[in-house]
Amino acid sequence: MIEPLYSPDEKRYESMQYARSGRSGVLLSRISLGFWHNFGATVPLATARDIMRCAFDNGVVSMDLANNYGPPYGSAEETFGEIFRKDFRPYRDELFIATKAGYDMWPGPYGNWGSRKYLMASLDQSLRRMGLDYVDVFYSHRFDPDTPVEETLTALVDIVRQGKALYIALSKWPREAEEAAYRFLDNQGCHCLLYQDRLNIFDRSSEQSGRLKTASDAGVGYIAFSPLAQGLLTDRYLNGIPEGSRATQGRFLKAEQITQEIIERIKTLSQIAANRGQTLAQMATAWVLNRPGVTSAIVGCSSASQLRDTISSIDRLDFSEEELRLIDAAAGIDKV
Ligand SMILES: NC(=O)c1ccc[n+]([C@@H]2O[C@H](COP(=O)([O-])OP(=O)(O)OC[C@H]3O[C@@H](n4cnc5c(N)ncnc54)[C@H](OP(=O)(O)O)[C@@H]3O)[C@@H](O)[C@H]2O)c1
Repeated sequence: MIEPLYSPDEKRYESMQYARSGRSGVLLSRISLGFWHNFGATVPLATARDIMRCAFDNGVVSMDLANNYGPPYGSAEETFGEIFRKDFRPYRDELFIATKAGYDMWPGPYGNWGSRKYLMASLDQSLRRMGLDYVDVFYSHRFDPDTPVEETLTALVDIVRQGKALYIALSKWPREAEEAAYRFLDNQGCHCLLYQDRLNIFDRSSEQSGRLKTASDAGVGYIAFSPLAQGLLTDRYLNGIPEGSRATQGRFLKAEQITQEIIERIKTLSQIAANRGQTLAQMATAWVLNRPGVTSAIVGCSSASQLRDTISSIDRLDFSEEELRLIDAAAGIDKV
């Protein structure tokens, strides 16, 4: 049977909002789609395809991948490649596709961290898996304390000069290295597009350490990952740990993290969200997007319906002082 061609929603740009990434020409959808979980080889292609279609149909054009997303490593890029080939090739110029390198990808001394050798080879592999000629942005996925920083950064600049990425970005670099990197890159005439770090109602270390402000001050966009604290800041765990949820996998979110204290905090936050006419997932995403300097929030999801719910956060991004105070208190931030 011949599959009907995917035809995206014609109104896809009507409700999403777009923000300029720092001092650049690039506008990103305020919600980005993350491929860390639920795009690996263990997830049915149909589910992943529904999620990507749902994103694009709602104006989410920023797609966040990495070489090691799966499991197994590389398989999220392969899944993306297959869906891209089936549905999205005609829309390549409407998508802003990111990938990264920085973690252990292949055995031996050249499959990890931040050497020129690793970064160049990894991007070539990513492009093959995704079936792309270039990515829109390529990240150093983490700071490498043992490789001269000039080597990592020059490799990124050269990747742009080769046309394999249009822009470059950093993720999880310590503040001092981040600041020096922006200066180095500007001197090379290759402004850093984005800084990526964790930020959510429970985890504000990116703000507290000054990493977010360092990016803003340098004219670099800031893109937040895990805005829902991997699902904690949703209604997912209000009544126990559901079958198939991330906490049952016990790898990145562990059942032990879902303590009675956390459940009580989530319940209070859920009530604050309900008073605003939002689900907790919507309020948590809106909270991140409301922080000064934040360009986009990268959300994960295991279904299109979760994504649809989260995207509706866009309808209400403003917060009163009182709401922010109540959220801080419910999150235990007043105790920090
Ligand atoms: N640079 C880095 O080092 C780094 C690190 C981490 C993440 N990231 C990026 O950030 C992306 C997002 O991270 P994340 O997956 O941790 O994000 P998240 O948005 O904080 O959590 C996503 C999880 O929350 C649950 N969820 C999502 N929407 C929901 C809804 N509306 N209602 C109820 N539950 C909902 C789902 O859990 P279930 O799966 O249990 O359904 C989903 O998998 C990643 O995919 C990746 O692209 C980057």
